Amino acid sequence: GQRVRTRHLLQAKERGEKWAMLTSYDQYTARIFDEAGIPVLLVGDSAANNVFGYETTLPVTVDELLPLVRAVVNATKRALVVGDLPFGSYEEGTTQAIRTSVRFMKEAQCHAIKLEGARPALIEAIAGAGIPVMAHIGFTPQSEHQIGGYRVQGRGEQAKILVEQAHECAEAGAFAVVLEMVPGEVAKQITAEVPIPTIGIGAGPDTDAQVLVWQDMAGLRTGGGPTPRFVKQYAQLATTLTDAAQAFAQEVRGGVFPGPEHTF
Ligand code: KIV
Ligand code: NA
Repeated sequence: GQRVRTRHLLQAKERGEKWAMLTSYDQYTARIFDEAGIPVLLVGDSAANNVFGYETTLPVTVDELLPLVRAVVNATKRALVVGDLPFGSYEEGTTQAIRTSVRFMKEAQCHAIKLEGARPALIEAIAGAGIPVMAHIGFTPQSEHQIGGYRVQGRGEQAKILVEQAHECAEAGAFAVVLEMVPGEVAKQITAEVPIPTIGIGAGPDTDAQVLVWQDMAGLRTGGGPTPRFVKQYAQLATTLTDAAQAFAQEVRGGVFPGPEHTF
């Protein structure tokens, strides 16, 4: 019955216990994942793609995300819920970053926020306001136009920079760091060196935790190009829903539904 706290994630790292994070954007999945024992739920700005149907994460706004965050918080009893700061809501500096983070904590009552990039000044300022900060380095989708598409980060010479960035995030007071699309060996080194939990997505098996977008994990994603290599599908919800919709439509056309038991 107790809420997961950031210290529990640190204790898990010290014990060598791995854990899973999933995205969630609504009350049903939040309740299901919470009761399934997922300790951390991320209301990602990936709602841009997976809820709102935008092509990138860039257009989604704080006002669009806050009601989703509130729904996930309201539906969970145990999970630590992280709200993801969208593009444009923190880059101006510490004042804007604190103001946006406070909105997430006050209006949606989440338990932590996440932001993209190695931004020690912003991490320190937000943490200084009493708000736990999850960092996110490697491939950062909000910078996809600068990076030039979905590309693995931290290869070769770049590995050193990534390791330094992870240290900077930890020293600035981040409680965890997401490593997205980085070579497994680099993620392994970062995980061994930094005192805070690392959460991998396309970062190999040696991070302290793993995260996937829930619609990818459950096979609900349709359209929007091929599923990335780092995704494993643990269900085929798109197929299940297609079958359900077709069965419903067929029974309506055939006069089978509704039956006497559905009728007043
Ligand atoms: O928005 C998101 O879903 C994320 C995770 C993939 C880390 O940032
Ligand atoms: Na995100």
